[in-house]
Amino acid sequence: PVLVVDFGAQYAQLIARRVREAQLYSEVVPHTMPAGEMLAKNPAAIVLSGGPSSVYAEGAPSLDPALLEAGVPVFGICYGFQAMVRALGGSVEHTGLREYGATQAQIEDTGSTLFNGQPAEQSVWMSHGDSASKAPEGLRVTATTPGAAVAAVEDDERKLYGVQWHPEVMHSTFGQRVLENFLLRGAGLAADWTPKAMVEELVDGVREQVGTDRAICALSGGVDSMVAAALVQRAIGDQLTCVFVDHGLLRDGEAEQVREDFVELTGADLVVVDAADRYLTQLAGVTDPERKRKIIGEQFIRIFEQTARDIVADRGDDQHPVKWLVQGTLYPDVVESGGGTGTANIKSHHNVGGLPDDIQFRLVEPLRLLFKDEVRQVGLELGLPEKIVYRQPFPGPGLGIRIVGEVTAERLAILRAADRIAREELTAAGLDREIWQCPVVLLADVRSVGVQGDGRTYGHPIVLRPVSSEDAMTADWTRLPYDVLARISGRITNEVPDVNRVVLDVTSKPPGTIEWE
Ligand code: XMP
Repeated sequence: PVLVVDFGAQYAQLIARRVREAQLYSEVVPHTMPAGEMLAKNPAAIVLSGGPSSVYAEGAPSLDPALLEAGVPVFGICYGFQAMVRALGGSVEHTGLREYGATQAQIEDTGSTLFNGQPAEQSVWMSHGDSASKAPEGLRVTATTPGAAVAAVEDDERKLYGVQWHPEVMHSTFGQRVLENFLLRGAGLAADWTPKAMVEELVDGVREQVGTDRAICALSGGVDSMVAAALVQRAIGDQLTCVFVDHGLLRDGEAEQVREDFVELTGADLVVVDAADRYLTQLAGVTDPERKRKIIGEQFIRIFEQTARDIVADRGDDQHPVKWLVQGTLYPDVVESGGGTGTANIKSHHNVGGLPDDIQFRLVEPLRLLFKDEVRQVGLELGLPEKIVYRQPFPGPGLGIRIVGEVTAERLAILRAADRIAREELTAAGLDREIWQCPVVLLADVRSVGVQGDGRTYGHPIVLRPVSSEDAMTADWTRLPYDVLARISGRITNEVPDVNRVVLDVTSKPPGTIEWE
């Protein structure tokens, strides 16, 4: 793999994604991992990420020089660049010239490995207080910026490279080209992480992991679980049973769609469990979002366990119990739940952190190292239709975390009706691809006065939360056309009883998460 060493910023994951976009497999490792362990992974190249510290700060993450001496090509970014410059004998100083945001880099050699084929002046995104003031011996300075005399260094001999700016962010105009030049020209790697290769590798991995055991898969209707199921089906065929739990927290038409779009297409074995009443009973009186998630996740597992026993009993084959549970967990879920590199636990996503401790299954998570765009590529490669592959994300706990307040059957009916209208209008306006997803939220514990027909009403607000995002880690609110908003608002307040107000959420993430709970 291409190892991305995480020096503690939010950027490591993004770098890993950019490497994958260059069709090379990448993995994020924490800077606390001993150099020997990193090298034991046999890295094809190493990228040192940015980080929040000054290289001089007390307790600043250090860079083991062994990483630079192993003959593996290394690319340092921002903090990683400074740590590298220092480790090789150059100097990094508090020059007082801080640079934050976009600045112009002057490329000294447009024929160099990193900058080949690029303009001599390019916009780059910076975030640094310290600057490298003297390059280490043997490293050529190939770019400067107003605030950094040494803004890029290269040594083709030892295959060591670095830039002070952040090539991984979109504001660095030629960032991806610089990164690809490092990977393909500097490190001489061949782009081989293609959809076909991913599928082959993942299918092999599942076969090896599961062997001749039986597995079941939680189909949630979302892209991730459907792609995971299709992959595992490709790997182990009818050793897999898909289970669709209708927890009553689904949107209109969802259960039918799973049957039509997925099962009929893949021929997967499907069991549908109607558990709506059970969920409503369990969720009665519960208002805390994390408790809702825990309850929903826990019920899921219990239902699977029962279904697994039923499958074995039905087939009269107790030689082969269901040992494995397939989950469509993605890399960002793993990292956001604190399973990646020690990042803070933001929400316990039910498919990762919310699993009960006494779970009886072992987990198959074939997508756990993939980013969303890769999941889509894998889905298409497996022959799934675009309708599935480009479905907008929908959270496992469903409408249960889109009712702020207690979940009841009446409230679910209200939200479902409002959500259906919003989806219809967004689809009709051709906006499905433009928005990442648009949660529709019922503020069940809030009431406001309105006037409808002849009288005063005292109803509930519906929140529209359209967001644009690349990976759900960050998001911005989508500037929907006013006429589309007006149509949605008009229809919801007219057609949905008990709703007399529609409001628009205009918060980015951060600080707001995409979902309200
Ligand atoms: P947030 O609200 O954390 O959401 O910004 C990021 C993305 O994750 C989805 N989401 C969930 N998915 N179980 C899931 O399977 C959950 O508990 C959960 N919570 C949020 C959300 O819809 C968005 O796409």
